[in-house]
Amino acid sequence: MKAFRPTPSLSAKLVTLVCAFGLIIVQAQIAFAQTGNITVQVDKPGAPIPKTLFGLFFEDINFGADGGLYPERVKNRSFEFPNPMMGWKQVDRGDTKGELYVFDHGSINDTPNSHYLRIKVATAGKGFGVMNEGFRGIGVEKGAEYFFSISARRVDGSLAALRVEVEDESGHLLGQSKVSGFTTDWKTYAAIVRTTETNNKARLNLLLEGSGTLDVDMVSLYPKLTWENRENGLRYDLVKLLKEMKPGFLRFPGGCIVEGRYLDQRYQWKTTIGDLDDRRLIINRWNTEFNWRLTPDYYQSFGLGYFEYFLLSEDIGAEPLPILNCGMACQFNSSELAPLEDLDHYIQDAIDLIEFANAPVTTAWGRKRAELGHPAPFNLKMIGVGNEQWGPQYIERYEIFARVLKEKYPNVALVSSAGPAPDGERFDFLWAKLRELKADLIDEHYYMAPKWFRDNAGRYDNYPRTGPKVFAGEYAAQSVGIASPDNRNNWECALSEAAFITGLDRNADVVQMSSYAPLFGHLEAWQWTPNMIWFDNLRSYATPNYYVQKLFSVNRGTRILPVLLDGSAKNGQGELFTSASLDERTSEVILKVVNTAPSAKEVRINLAGAKTLAKVGKAFILESADLKAENSLDNPTKVAPIERQLTVPAVEFAYRFTPNSLTVMRVALR
Ligand code: AHR
Repeated sequence: MKAFRPTPSLSAKLVTLVCAFGLIIVQAQIAFAQTGNITVQVDKPGAPIPKTLFGLFFEDINFGADGGLYPERVKNRSFEFPNPMMGWKQVDRGDTKGELYVFDHGSINDTPNSHYLRIKVATAGKGFGVMNEGFRGIGVEKGAEYFFSISARRVDGSLAALRVEVEDESGHLLGQSKVSGFTTDWKTYAAIVRTTETNNKARLNLLLEGSGTLDVDMVSLYPKLTWENRENGLRYDLVKLLKEMKPGFLRFPGGCIVEGRYLDQRYQWKTTIGDLDDRRLIINRWNTEFNWRLTPDYYQSFGLGYFEYFLLSEDIGAEPLPILNCGMACQFNSSELAPLEDLDHYIQDAIDLIEFANAPVTTAWGRKRAELGHPAPFNLKMIGVGNEQWGPQYIERYEIFARVLKEKYPNVALVSSAGPAPDGERFDFLWAKLRELKADLIDEHYYMAPKWFRDNAGRYDNYPRTGPKVFAGEYAAQSVGIASPDNRNNWECALSEAAFITGLDRNADVVQMSSYAPLFGHLEAWQWTPNMIWFDNLRSYATPNYYVQKLFSVNRGTRILPVLLDGSAKNGQGELFTSASLDERTSEVILKVVNTAPSAKEVRINLAGAKTLAKVGKAFILESADLKAENSLDNPTKVAPIERQLTVPAVEFAYRFTPNSLTVMRVALR
């Protein structure tokens, strides 16, 4: 770490002169005033800043779950896709004669996992069977171990074994294993495959040795390395990035995925827990959403289901925030509605979920949680009623949900929707109604141009201080336009978000939660851009947007400190944006400053009311001269924070904010 001193600037030089010639004092002060000043009222700590202020929004979009965070390597592992052979191909090593059949019932678990594959070999030879292509290939690492498992039963013949091969695209073997000893009953067989090379486009072969017939189902190739080494655990590098953000909450499972294009395709949490072959596969609504980004092989296996979401929240120290369908399918699609008199089923799902998360093990749902391996409650404190709904239809449904849930669980906060846009008729209607209904938290979404974020940094400065709190639940600056495939995760977008987030930080008494959306994008299988984290089958990188959120999140204070920019509490009138807080845990003043100007800003900082200060603090700086700069797999930290020592000679000091930068300062009050 390099010692850092502010670059001597015009103003600093003038101050130096002050010592020698009293006459110049006035000029020096004028010079500082001309370039800007920030006053942090250290002795006037305000409202507490909730732990939940900065969190995460997860949705299974862009291969976020299957093919992403859920690291199962086999696509369509249970042959339940509508085309049961999607992702699979026949492999015939030349001299072997065989056939493949798919059966639609008679598997281990007929509901919901009824399909299975029959491999029939008439003449034994070098091998006959199937190849799985994975999710745009299979990622394997040199020297790593993968658990292979399969459900199988012998139908007839003298089968010697099932050979399991991992090979690259040219057929070069990267690892292999065998399972054998099949009986005529369905059983699970397992083996370890060690791979000798790193390859992100590998494939998996299952080849019968000997002749005869074998039925197979629930094929799995799963990395041994998962977060916390959990069985059926999550992709290590991706969870690491999440945890490093110190997120206050994890919203799951979406997003529009909650709603479904039609109600029968909505997310139903009860079908996502328990044995993997008990989890009912459904289409992913992003499969067909955008004509220009069709993803025909996108389904939800629910290997990452509600239990895993709760575990993930716990693992990364985030409050779980499940969002439930409220009897409305996506209003951008079918707008299908559950009649008001039929909402019981939906409300019961919410009640059962709260019981599953919080009830003692002596209850049916508490017992279920314990059977899955988590006797202790998950301590669920909030749930969302619907995703991005709007109109009177939403209010009618929200009202019924709220009436029942508030009576039964007064301490569980309800998140309600302000619709898809940050303003307009729908937005105003929802806010007015939800205010009347005394809603707890209203979820606002803004997918807007970068300029909108800069222009709206003061959005919450004048929001009412009573009534519902704000959840800035989905935001991301769109460099081209909403849902455009040309949107980029560039520095201009991230910097504009940083300017906006100072407004969330300053108003943390009103804005209690915020999250960037979407979270993940597979570089070869995305439907939506921008996303906070990009990955391929093996590697991942965080965007400049991620680093902005991370800097705010890991530097969240515990109390708001009033901050004046050029003497005014109004922020973001020009090119500088600020927020300040006190961290009572460490007795530090935290100042965040965003300079959106293409030139440096000389600023006089006054930590007003601070009696004693440490002479040395820290500055974390995220900057780039190039507003178009982006990170990538090969250059993952092109735009990433650097840490510097900060010299604090007195409560008032000069600092030079570099062009296009976010700076977070931490100074201890001694
Ligand atoms: O984040 C992508 C989508 O944007 C979400 O699913 C939805 O809530 C919003 O429209």
